[in-house]
This record gives sequence, C-alpha cells and structure tokens, in this order.
Amino acid sequence: MCGIVGYTGTNQASPFLLEGLQTLEYRGYDSAGVDILSPDGGLHGVKCAGRVATLVERCAQANLVGTCGIAHTRWATHGAPSDRNAHPHRDCSGTISLVHNGIIENFRELREELLANGHELVSDTDSEIIVHLVEESMQGPAKGDLLEAVRIATTRLQGSWALGVICTEQPGVLVCARKNSPLVITSDETGAYCASDITAIIGKSRHITQLEDGQLARLTPDGGIYVIGADGRHVPNPQTIDVSWSASEAKRGGYPDFMSKEVAEQPDAMTRLLANRLGDDGIVLDELNMTDEEVAAIDRIYIIACGTSWHVGLVAKEAIERWAKIPVSVEIASEFSYSSVLITEHTLCVVITQSGETADTLAAARRMKAMGCRVFSICNVIGCTAARESDGTIYVQAGPEICVASTKAYTSQMVASFLFALYLAHKNGNMGLDEVKEKYDALLEAPEAARTVLERSWQDRNAARAFQGRVSSLYLGRGVNATSAREGALKIKELSYLHAEAYPAGEMKHGSISMVEDGYPIVAVVPDDDTRAKMLSNIQEVKARGACVISVATDDDEDIAAQSDYVLWIPRMTEPMFNAIPAAVHLQLLARFVAVDRGRDVDKPRNLAKSVTVE
Ligand code: G6P
Repeated sequence: MCGIVGYTGTNQASPFLLEGLQTLEYRGYDSAGVDILSPDGGLHGVKCAGRVATLVERCAQANLVGTCGIAHTRWATHGAPSDRNAHPHRDCSGTISLVHNGIIENFRELREELLANGHELVSDTDSEIIVHLVEESMQGPAKGDLLEAVRIATTRLQGSWALGVICTEQPGVLVCARKNSPLVITSDETGAYCASDITAIIGKSRHITQLEDGQLARLTPDGGIYVIGADGRHVPNPQTIDVSWSASEAKRGGYPDFMSKEVAEQPDAMTRLLANRLGDDGIVLDELNMTDEEVAAIDRIYIIACGTSWHVGLVAKEAIERWAKIPVSVEIASEFSYSSVLITEHTLCVVITQSGETADTLAAARRMKAMGCRVFSICNVIGCTAARESDGTIYVQAGPEICVASTKAYTSQMVASFLFALYLAHKNGNMGLDEVKEKYDALLEAPEAARTVLERSWQDRNAARAFQGRVSSLYLGRGVNATSAREGALKIKELSYLHAEAYPAGEMKHGSISMVEDGYPIVAVVPDDDTRAKMLSNIQEVKARGACVISVATDDDEDIAAQSDYVLWIPRMTEPMFNAIPAAVHLQLLARFVAVDRGRDVDKPRNLAKSVTVE
C-alpha cells in the first residue's frame, strides 16, 4: 500500500520519480505527490488527489527542476484522499520533506505531543507526524545530520514504515528507512535510487540493496549508499540481491493492460517453475531446508494466506491431505490472531503470499515462529519480507505481477503447492516414486492446457455477455472446483464490482438458489471428475429456474454442453485436481471481459491495492 520512490544524483530527478510512481501505482492510486530540492535551495513540489497521470500533468506545468527528490502514490488509511493528505509532507519550516508507506500505530499520542510543542499539522495523516519528529531531532540531538535525525525520529514510532526524506540543509542527501514495509535501493553512475518495489528501479541496475527491518540509509549523488542499523552503527555489508528479470518484463509490452499480459504469461511461468523438479529421489524441493527425517515427521500443517493466495491454500490442502495424508488447516491470515493454534514440535506453517509483504500474513507467520513453529513460504517477489523471515522459501518465478488482481501468481503458486504435496507424500512414504513421476508428468500438462485456454479466449468473450445488465452472479463447484469457483467469483468482484457469490454446489439448495431467476448468470465449474454427475444435477436445477449457465467443462462433454448457455472448454487433464489450472485461466479471462464491458480499469480496481501492508 502506497508506493515511494526517491532519487539523488546528477540527472534531473522528476522524470525518474514520475516514471517510478507510474510503475508503483498498483500499490495505491488515490493521490500522489513529488518534492524536489531545487537549485535555489528550496523545496518545490506538487501534490494532488487522483491518479499519477494527474500529477504528471500538473508537474509539466510546474516545471520542477532539481536533481534530488522524493515522490509518493497513496492508498489512503488515515485521512481521505485529498490534496492536503497527499504526500510528501513537510515540517513547520518547510525545509524537510518526507514520504511514508506504512502505518504509525501510536500517531495519536505523538500528534498530541507535537501539537503541545507548537507544531502546526496540516493533514489528517499519521505520516505527517514523522516529518515533525525529524524536524525536532534535526534542531536538537542530531545537530543538522538528516540521517541521525531520521534515526532518532524512528525510535519514537510504533508500526510500519518505509521512508524517504530530503531537506534543504543537506542538499543532495536522501535518507531512507524501513520497518515492516518494503524498501529497496540501487545506484548507477548517475546517482542513487530508492523505491518500495524493485520494478521501479530495475531499469537502473539489477544489483539491489535491501534494507533490513530497522535499518536506515543515506544516499548521495555520487551513488553512495551508507547503511546504518537502528542503533546508529554502520552496516558495512548490507544485504544485496541480483535480480534475474529485466525492466522490460515489468512493462506492458503491447498488451492492452497488465492483466492481459500476465494472464498470457502463465504457461511460461509454470514451465519455468516445473523445470528440473524431478530427480532420482522424487521431487526436488531443496528450498524447504528440512532433512528427510524432519519432513517425514510433519504431523500437521497450517497454511496461512489472504485473498487469491488463500484460494491456493485451499487447493494445496486437497493435494496434501489426499497424497501425503497430513491434516491441513487453511487459515485466513487476518482471522488467525483470533484462532487457537494447536501445534506440536512437528507442525509446519506454510505461508502463501505473492508479494511476501501482506501485513496480515506476516503477522500470522511471526506468531507461528514465536510459538516455535518452522515456517515455509511460497512467494513470488524475490527477497520479500516473508521469504526473509521464513526457514525456507520456494519462489514461484512468475515475474513481476503488476495488475492488482492476481493471475499468473495464482496458477504458479498452485503448481508450487502441487510440487510441495508430492514432495511430502514421497518423503513420508505415502506415495511411491512411480506415482510421483506419474503425477509430475501429469503436472507438466498444465502449461500446455493453459496455453490452449488462452487460444480459446473467444469463448470467454462470448460468455461475458451473460453478465450484461446483471447485478449479481453465482459461481458453483464441488471439491477442488469449489475453490476454482471461489477464485472466479473473487476475480469478477475485484475487476467488475459486480456481486458474485461462490458456493459449494451441493449447498446451494440451502440458500442461494433463491436468487436464481430468468437470465441469472451461474458459472458452474464442472470438469470431468468425480463431481461431474452431481454437478450436472445442480446445473439442471438452476436451468429449470431460468438461470443462464456458463459451464467450465472438459472437451467434448456433450451432456454439459446440452444444459449450458455457454461452455468454457478445458482440455482433458490426466490428474483431475490439475483441472484447477486451466479453469482458473478461463475464469480470469471471463472476469476481464466482463470488466472491460463495464468500462472498468482492470489493472487498478477501485479501493484495492496490490500489496496490502495494513492489518
Ligand atoms: C491483495 C491483492 C490480491 C492478493 C492479496 C494477497 O488483496 O489485491 O490480489 O491475492 O492481496 O496478496 P499476497 O501478496 O499476500 O498474495
């Protein structure tokens, strides 16, 4: 939530800052702003409610000149989206400017204290108080040293922050700090850069410095990156990573929107993840970092996730329980703090998170760690907080996912979960090597099946017409297909703002069938598996009540076709559980067409954000 970007160097700052904000806009897009240190020694900036495009227009008129600056795109938490609440925020003297991503939990006390000390606060945000704390320490104990002033200010804060701070007293110095919110840094021959996400700086260098929680850094125009810990001590070798993907992968590349691009990338993403995963001793999953004995002893698994990743967890549960015979609890991370957790010394916690920054998921994982539980994560973003705090991580290697609604990460996370389930099943003796190989071969069909579905997108284009003029819809399935239905319904809600309810098909008769009337859209996920016969009856029940049925069915299933108004065909899969992959691709395409028909911005649905860093 919220994206921050900063630059100090020899080039003009505003082109990079505005481009960086556009890249980060998926993190929040209700207001945006920029502040630049201009050659006259003052701060000049623009901030406004609305999208980054509005800020870009305003900046063109403002003609911002200067080689050091910070910028922000906001997802409002404290205070409405408005010009006044947009970042950057300045101190009373107007000489210090700050951008913040995160939440300051003790801001009310600090606000009272600052007001009592005579500070003038002009916004409703929690972030503004930080710049006034910096102002106090700048004038007091830090004696004009911006890095030290920010460090002292952060010692007063509770909550989460990624900060970028500049000031007129130290021209060219850009100070960053992080705790529980992501921040990455890099440099090249023209200066140093910081951002909330690698995608904003990858075009400058693939060599990325990652601040650890509590660390701060001073960036200088010569590309210098000086990192200190929360105690003020120099950190000579901060954590760095070399990113393998390129800047072009984070660009739209000719597609009408990022969602189309990311949906189309699924076959390649899954192929990458599946490569070299079968060895002489079964599935290769060294990332788990556990001995064979430890793996064989796992007696219970907690899967924790949010949103689309939670749906992956539901699929993973089916696979793990069926193949590895280990009981699995799948927890919505935000609910996890209220549940009693029953762990043994052999319990494993698995967190599934595309971004690896979702606050609820991180909090739940920390709770499990504190209870002594080993944590394994399934993530997409390299070097994310979840991975850094886990005992082992499998990266799904789907590449940057920019569209707020998750697509390629979903299918890749499912593939990773299937690999994980097969690994467990073999190691704990519930599946022989031959069967593991059969299942792995069957999983290799998934990329091709997704490709076939992509070629059939015209089916989704047609079926989207069933949603025209409708205010509600119902998604049905049984078993693993009930999870596909959930994910399909979530996609429709996220992208079109159309009500969609997902129901286990057999449960429908206990309530939601009353919604069915003439033309009511019902999406039935009914591939050829052991749920098919009962699903066919459910389809007939809703057809009899006038529903417009869109079925996701296995090729050539004439019985389903006869009962459906539209069919989204998926290729026959050897392993029925893997139907969830081609089904997901159809339901993504369907949701996108429905949203486009309604004139929605599919990449940036209202009120949502890609990376939800508030609890
Ligand atoms: C947000 C995104 C969803 C995502 C969820 C969990 O709500 O809009 O697409 O599924 O967060 O994100 P994570 O990064 O933890 O998978």
